[in-house]
Amino acid sequence: MKKQFLFLASAFLLAVSGVAQPLYDEPYRPQYHFSPPTHFMNDPNGLVFFKGIFHLYYQYNPLELVAGHQSWGHATSTDLIHWKNLPIAIPEMPTGQIFTGSAVVDNNNTSGFFNGVAGGGLVAIYTLNEPTKEVQNVAFSHDDGTSYIEFEGNPVLDLQNPNFRDPKVFWYAPGHRWIMAVALPRAHQVLFYASRDLKNWSFLSAFGPAGIEAFQWETPNLNEVPIQGTNEKKWVLIVGINPGAPVGGSINQYFVGNFDGTKFTPDDSAARLMDFGKDFYATQTYNNTPSGEVIEVGWMSNWQYTQDVPTFPWRGVFTVPRFLSLRQNPTQTGDLLVQTPIALDSLHDKTLFNGATMLSPGSPLTISSQGNSSFEFHTTVIGGDKGRLNINIRNAAGEQVTVGVDWDHDGQVYVNRGQTTGFNNPYFTNDFSTWNSNLDQSIELRVLVDRSVLEVFVDDGVKVCTSSFFMQHGPPTEMQWVAENSPILVEDLEAFSLKSIWR
Ligand code: FRU
Repeated sequence: MKKQFLFLASAFLLAVSGVAQPLYDEPYRPQYHFSPPTHFMNDPNGLVFFKGIFHLYYQYNPLELVAGHQSWGHATSTDLIHWKNLPIAIPEMPTGQIFTGSAVVDNNNTSGFFNGVAGGGLVAIYTLNEPTKEVQNVAFSHDDGTSYIEFEGNPVLDLQNPNFRDPKVFWYAPGHRWIMAVALPRAHQVLFYASRDLKNWSFLSAFGPAGIEAFQWETPNLNEVPIQGTNEKKWVLIVGINPGAPVGGSINQYFVGNFDGTKFTPDDSAARLMDFGKDFYATQTYNNTPSGEVIEVGWMSNWQYTQDVPTFPWRGVFTVPRFLSLRQNPTQTGDLLVQTPIALDSLHDKTLFNGATMLSPGSPLTISSQGNSSFEFHTTVIGGDKGRLNINIRNAAGEQVTVGVDWDHDGQVYVNRGQTTGFNNPYFTNDFSTWNSNLDQSIELRVLVDRSVLEVFVDDGVKVCTSSFFMQHGPPTEMQWVAENSPILVEDLEAFSLKSIWR
């Protein structure tokens, strides 16, 4: 009763203070990145492909613009680009909130939840966040993922521990069983369990502490990832750390190694970060993809400031889906995880630039985004020893975010979001940089811009910076390419404005 009232009151508040902005066209609203219609979203959950449809569930508070009343929101897509919003799939329970988890296709009815149903169905495995402990629960769907029925034998795992969460379950074919990776956050461990029926789970092993411990480990994901240029694969364990990321707050780290069906053994003890920005957390990979591709979706925010960002009537955005692969890097630091964003060609609208150019200091190149603040570009840039390139993505009022390459300082790539005035917060820091993993003078860049979010893929995605930014005086309308100190060759620059997925 109380909840119903809260919901109505908050819907009313959103309606009256919404200043008649059409939904999905509000200031800051990304146009080709997924965000919920209203209210608060954090982690992606239950990513699964089933009967031709990609499901995207997510941590959702349907009542407020901050975390709370966690439930599983739901959207679907047939192309991983256009999304259809659907009703909440798993609502908060009287006994607790529905925290992060995963979904699997039980096509052989190993669980017994799908007797007489050809092709089986979807099972969700998630954390129930109770007042005194976190336990793992299971629920199944008899309507292809629209709603879920709780398993009467829940919980399926209970350690009597207040911090035990985020089960990622997948089918491990060689062992003919389900494997669960689940976090023991304060112990900085990922625990592995196995099950034949998704109901009875037995403990296999623990990984950690390792890498960056920070305060907590969350949202683990274990995947077998293809190695570029080979037919081989290797196992990659992704672990969220929060708070305590090197640049503050939340970030994902990964370990490359082997999983033998029981135990994960890393190749080395190095912790590698998936992103050099501040807005990439709780990434999760799809189960049951059509050709076994490893596809992730990450949350573009940070617990340090996510509950304060100036978006309305929603908070929370996801990255575009990204394909994961490994690049062998024997001369440097082991195998590196590469993130390749999904091709957005189907959204291309206008060609903003197409060609090569030599940029000279003092003669910037300005490229208008032709009235659209959602665009992408791809290029390779080559600078001399002392050169520096600043790509200023800006609005008419002079607010800008900069993507830069600094050959004068070892070819480092940097992102600066400081010249924006829409969000003042001590944790919303401005400067991010990464070293050049390339041994020559060329840097390949693919950059996605979408009103208030930026994804920068360096050298085919071996380095990534995911960043939100908030321009108070309107979203970016042009790019200014500025060479400093020495000429810079911009090879094959292709820039396109992008159509909205919401209209
Ligand atoms: C990660 C996280 C998870 C938890 C969820 C709650 O961002 O803290 O550990 O399940 O968010 O919304």
